[in-house]
Amino acid sequence: MLMKNTVNETRKPLHLRVNGKSYQISVPPGARLLDVLREDCGLTGTKEGCGVGECGACTVEVRGRAMCSCLLFAHSFDDEEITSIEGMAPDIQHLHPLQELLIEAGGCQCGFCIPGMLMGAKNLLEKNPDPTDEEIQAGLAGNLCRCTGYAKIFEAVRNAGKVLRDEQQGANV
Ligand code: FES
Ligand code: FES
Repeated sequence: MLMKNTVNETRKPLHLRVNGKSYQISVPPGARLLDVLREDCGLTGTKEGCGVGECGACTVEVRGRAMCSCLLFAHSFDDEEITSIEGMAPDIQHLHPLQELLIEAGGCQCGFCIPGMLMGAKNLLEKNPDPTDEEIQAGLAGNLCRCTGYAKIFEAVRNAGKVLRDEQQGANV
C-alpha cells in the first residue's frame, strides 16, 4: 500500500499538468498522486475513501484510463496530462452533461463518492457512448457508493450517454 506523504521526507521536483494547468512542485519520491492533487495542487474534489484501491472515490483520468489515484506514485506521471473532477465541466457556466443529469436525477446524495463516480462514468462513455445497463454496472463496479443510490447514478449515466451521442451527431452534420 502507498503511504500518505510525510512532511520531513526529501522532496523531488515534479511537473504535473492537471486539467490543462501546469503545476511545478516538489514532493517526496513516494508521494501518492491523490495527496499531491489534494495537498500540493489544491484540487480537493478528488476524495480519499479506502486508500487501498477498493472504493473508487479517488478516481482520476490518466493515460486515457480511469484510475485510482491512491494507488499511483505521482512521479510516475511527471509531465503527463491528468484530468480530475475539477476539469470535468467545460467552463464555470456550464456543467458536463453527466453532472447536470446527475443533479436532475437526484443522484448526488451525500456527494462523497460522486467525483470518482463521475470520472469513472466520463471515461466509460468516452469508450462506449451507448452502454447497456449491464455495461454501466460493470464499468462502474469499482466505484462504491455508501449511500447506495446506484439506480439514480446509473440513470444519469444512461441519459448523459444519449445527450453526448446527440451532441456528437449534431457536430457531424
Ligand atoms: S481511496 Fe482510492 S480506491 Fe478508495
Ligand atoms: S453519494 Fe454518498 S457515498 Fe455515494
